[in-house]
Amino acid sequence: MASDRLALYPGSFDPFTYGHLDIVRRAARLFDRLEVTVAVNAAKEPLLPIDDRCRLIRECVADLPGVTVEPFEGLLVDRAQARGAVALVRGLRQLSDFDYEFRMAFANRRLHGDLETVFLMTSEAHALISASIVREIHQWGGDVSSFVPEPVRAALAALRPS
Ligand code: PNS
Repeated sequence: MASDRLALYPGSFDPFTYGHLDIVRRAARLFDRLEVTVAVNAAKEPLLPIDDRCRLIRECVADLPGVTVEPFEGLLVDRAQARGAVALVRGLRQLSDFDYEFRMAFANRRLHGDLETVFLMTSEAHALISASIVREIHQWGGDVSSFVPEPVRAALAALRPS
């Protein structure tokens, strides 16, 4: 039987950065199918509504076969089980990511022992990008074009009153 291994790449993606795109590209090479699972309730007041986040990510990954983008609310392990996913993918940029990521991975493993969490390293070029830094730069009117793909830059620019 042909291999059909699905992984979920969950996150808030508020907004989707070049670092996220780098992880999607790497994960898409490792798995047959990859779902970018966009958390609905990541923050009480997201910068971009869930539908916009999903639409923008779809634009950014349009050239990658086997990659889909879906909104999600609930426990990730439930989503993984319902979709038959074999792994969760998370990006690691630096040591400070480890604490949170380890706690989340162990919690998810306790909830669903067969589901692996796979950590992928971003390229060095993107190691210092975070969505929260992008939000802050955006908030003060800075240029985010080197941090986020063009569709995201345009969407953020459209948020700003002219
Ligand atoms: O990009 P983020 O904000 O670091 O992503 C965090 C996310 C969405 C992956 C995490 O909050 C999450 O998994 N939320 C769904 C609820 C859940 O399953 N939590 C895992 C147990 S800790």
